Amino acid sequence: MTVKNLIFDIGNVLIGFRPVDMLREHGLSDETIQEMSDKILADDLWREFDLENISYQEVVDQYKEKYPELKEEIQWFFSHTELMPTYRPAVWEQIHILKKDGYGIYLLSNYSSELLRSHLRLAGFWKDVDGMVVSYELHSVKPEPVIYNKLLSKYHLNPTECAFFDDMPANVAGAEALGIKGELVIDEIQLLDLLKDYHRKSLLSQAIAFEEAGEKKIPEIERPVFHLPPRTGWMNDPNGFSYYNGQYHMFYQYYPYDVNWGPMHWGHAVSKDLLTWEALPCAIAPDEVYDRDGCFSGSAIDLPDGRQLLMYTAVDRTPKRDGTLVDRQTQALAIGDGVTYEKLPGNPILDDKDLPEGASIADFRDPKMVHWTDGTYRMYSVTNMPGRGGALLQFESKDALDWNYVSTMLVNDYKIGKMWECPDVFTLDGWDVFLASSQDMQAEGLEYDNGNGTFVMLGHCLEDGTFAPEIDHCVDYGLDFYAQQTILTPDGRRVMIAWMQNWDTIFHRTMESKWYGSMSLPREVFIRNNRFCQLPVRELLAYRKDKTEHKDVSVGSAPLSLPGVQGRVLDLELEILPEGDGWETFTLEFAGNGRFKSTLTFDARDNIVEIDRRYSGTRRAAIHQRRTDLDLSENRVSVRLVLDRFSAEAFLNGGEKAMTITLETPLTADQIAFSAKGNARINVTSYQLAK
Ligand code: FRU
Repeated sequence: MTVKNLIFDIGNVLIGFRPVDMLREHGLSDETIQEMSDKILADDLWREFDLENISYQEVVDQYKEKYPELKEEIQWFFSHTELMPTYRPAVWEQIHILKKDGYGIYLLSNYSSELLRSHLRLAGFWKDVDGMVVSYELHSVKPEPVIYNKLLSKYHLNPTECAFFDDMPANVAGAEALGIKGELVIDEIQLLDLLKDYHRKSLLSQAIAFEEAGEKKIPEIERPVFHLPPRTGWMNDPNGFSYYNGQYHMFYQYYPYDVNWGPMHWGHAVSKDLLTWEALPCAIAPDEVYDRDGCFSGSAIDLPDGRQLLMYTAVDRTPKRDGTLVDRQTQALAIGDGVTYEKLPGNPILDDKDLPEGASIADFRDPKMVHWTDGTYRMYSVTNMPGRGGALLQFESKDALDWNYVSTMLVNDYKIGKMWECPDVFTLDGWDVFLASSQDMQAEGLEYDNGNGTFVMLGHCLEDGTFAPEIDHCVDYGLDFYAQQTILTPDGRRVMIAWMQNWDTIFHRTMESKWYGSMSLPREVFIRNNRFCQLPVRELLAYRKDKTEHKDVSVGSAPLSLPGVQGRVLDLELEILPEGDGWETFTLEFAGNGRFKSTLTFDARDNIVEIDRRYSGTRRAAIHQRRTDLDLSENRVSVRLVLDRFSAEAFLNGGEKAMTITLETPLTADQIAFSAKGNARINVTSYQLAK
């Protein structure tokens, strides 16, 4: 049973003083105290006061007037309670958070601490309290089934959904005897820790309850078939992409409550083949002080003891004097078993102290951990250097828990955009590869012309801890490919996946769905002719159905459709060849129906390919094309086009170039057509893709 109601002993736990003990210390005998109790604080008298509306002093005065014989004691008692810093502000602040989390807040009080109700009112805390029961037994230092039962029945609470907090072992035991979860708290610090724990559990459980209900509202047909979308709400970057305990794990930047970016959680899914994903419960939520504004991107590795370790960027966003917000981005760890994760008490484990001089804590993120060759661990991260932009940092660790800065491997100096994000470093086909995404790029010819985009550098990691780049280019020449992550599969393939969206165009969407953002197809990457190349993972072949083949088909200016070659969940292989005098341009049109279409156009005059989704449903047509160069001098090109309802991914010449776009086109637009200016000949093999 999950705990939904929190019951506090007001006197001991929340106010932190014991009136009875105080009175005894003051020299009052138990009889006098009993007399005070009977006379002053009897239930009925207490009810005569309108505590919500009269001042503390008025309460005192009225008591004194009513019981002149106890005037002195009353004066003493009240002056002490008034002067004491009685309530515990930090605890109440935390209770306020718990209230917002949806917990019911109930108070138990012995007679005397009821006096302090006006304190609570004055302090503005009373509004968080759902109910209170007062015991008129003097000695509350004993189990009190009567009072617990009174509370349970008065507010119709199920004991198994309640937790009771007290510093009296006997009281806690008394609560437990009734099936209430007892929480023995010795001091305020411990109480705060416990309450934060309840808060943590609730943020995560709220997200999990929300996503379970939310995903049911999304019909299957409104989701992609092979691409991983969020269970509900918003997704951005892939996180913690890993192979753990026989399955691929994918975590992702996640805000379940809206289709827009919000305080980041980590969503979670697993797959055996990278294409059929099973949703798991949300893994982490922004529920600690150091990550209260978001659990940003990070990575996962397995530990020698079999557990899985996550490292993520914890964001704490605080207002500056001038009102602007400034991020504090630190790195934090969580350990889990593949489903449930616990953040480590030592978090954050990397902060300002660990940054090289000049680096900005406002931009310090996206740690990518890797197993190092000698059994230790490395981590790559990025920061922003004033006047120089993004920088790639390297950290090392012996146990993956305690990390040290090693070196600044490379500084951007504004060569590729401004700030870098989501770094990844690995070896591939004789090169050291540095992959990252960059913000605010300036175009160089047809490179880096897509605002925020992903780039690759091929080079070498040097002994001195720096990276020497030799070659760089874009990773994808479409519109939607950002924040990539890679893994090494058990059979040794380097597989890359990215967020199939773009920070530059997400604000122009028109499609109304209960989810937004998905992963790209996972891609096997390799280096050929000094270029970073990519093709869909071979696992996709297993989903091919209904093969249709057309060989040696002539294509001219009239758009040509071929029988069996249509659909929106499709794997199409196309070979374009010259015929007669050859072709000047060749166009492959997909997701079409007359009104809508998207195209890939090959222009042999300029050796350029253009992907164009102006007619895919967008209402901002001008920003929806992108071009790249491709050698078309021989009039030959091969294309692999994978459609999955709301996306199109084109791989040209065996992976030399990739172009990825998402589509808002109605699913009824499922025609495919070929046309050429000049004469072309094509071979087409197409498959429907299905599970
Ligand atoms: C990249 C990014 C990351 C950050 C995350 C926040 O898309 O900006 O740098 O960790 O998104 O959601």
